[in-house]
Amino acid sequence: MQMPEKGRGWDEVRAEMIARGGGDVDWRSGKTAVYVFNAGEDIHHVQHDAYGLYMAENGLGPLAFPSLAQMEKEVIAMALGLLHGDGGAGAITSGGTDSITMAIKAARDFARANGKPRTGHNIVIPRSGHLAFHKAALMMDIEIRSVPLKNDGSYEADPAAMEAAIDAGTIMMVGSAPQFPHGIIDPIEALGEIAARRDVWLHVDACVGGYFAPFARMNGVAVPAFDFEVPAVKSMSADLHKYGYCAKGASTVLFRSEELYKHMPFSLRDWSGAPMKTPTLAGTRPGGAISAAWAVMNVLGVAGYREKQGLVCGVREKIEAGVKALGFDVLGKPMLGLIAFRHPEAETLALYAAMRARGWFTSFTAEPPSLHLMLSPKHADVADAYLADLAAALADVKAGVTAEKVEARYS
Ligand SMILES: Cc1ncc(COP(=O)(O)O)c(C=O)c1O
Repeated sequence: MQMPEKGRGWDEVRAEMIARGGGDVDWRSGKTAVYVFNAGEDIHHVQHDAYGLYMAENGLGPLAFPSLAQMEKEVIAMALGLLHGDGGAGAITSGGTDSITMAIKAARDFARANGKPRTGHNIVIPRSGHLAFHKAALMMDIEIRSVPLKNDGSYEADPAAMEAAIDAGTIMMVGSAPQFPHGIIDPIEALGEIAARRDVWLHVDACVGGYFAPFARMNGVAVPAFDFEVPAVKSMSADLHKYGYCAKGASTVLFRSEELYKHMPFSLRDWSGAPMKTPTLAGTRPGGAISAAWAVMNVLGVAGYREKQGLVCGVREKIEAGVKALGFDVLGKPMLGLIAFRHPEAETLALYAAMRARGWFTSFTAEPPSLHLMLSPKHADVADAYLADLAAALADVKAGVTAEKVEARYS
């Protein structure tokens, strides 16, 4: 497409945009369980309105926009308050990948500042750790040591095997709370003991659970220690735009102390421009992502998050019971909003395709092949319909419908 010589009216352009969305997944109805966290129309409205209020402002300029600087400070304080992070520090980033990249950068610079070699670094990570670690490590020329999970059906990281992978070049070890593929919280306390003994930086990737697990625990779920409560945890990533129900483009990277945080920001004087300092990977930082996060946290408060996360845990329990009744095996013991399950007599991709054909857009896990759901409060309205469709899809697949026979357009 060439840029039009002459522009068109906004009404016309807007109508075209809405029409184009007609071909997208219908996430508002609750039939999508990946990519979107649907906390309801009221929260969607808050995100939208609060984003618009500071959309033109730039978080890169705290002196120009003390409003945003203060909102960011308060978001970080709320995050640290939820995650046993008293005395810690952090920043709002553009997303989980940004938070993870910056935590690795800080760990590497900390290692260099504390007598470790300047090069030849590695990160020890469970096989279930997010690909963002691999991407960041590639960019920083760091080796990833991906360690198989425990072989006991728990799908947890294996602390002993991870310890065996540590050497003098290890600048970080990673645990997730929870990891994405199976939705399982790694044994962070056991990883913490190793990190303390071997003097290695422990990062907890709570991109999914950071704004979920604390409220689930308040609701009575037996969530094990996973945050700064574990003394060896030096940094965490926790995404606002996932179970924080904030507008997209917002995560938090958190450090146990100001001292550790200092290894994250980048500053430069030696160039033609004015001296500049950027705390995270981004230069320009969208004011709207910061203001929308602050707004949603203030609108929901602890009570609001407890209610939403209670709904999500309730849906997960219902789906867990429903799929088990259909003969599926649930992988490990999920506690929060992610769940993966497989059927001993039905090929996963065929099931996936049969569910796509019925309008459900979800994800799947590769090891072992299984269906994967990332649940939102909205799914409370559609859990029964999902289970009914899954029963029908299972009957189709058992009757010989294969993935090839169903039009499956996933990428
Ligand atoms: C456990 C975990 N970590 C990190 C990420 C990366 O987050 P983002 O997609 O916001 O970069 C994800 C995304 O799903 C995740 O599930």
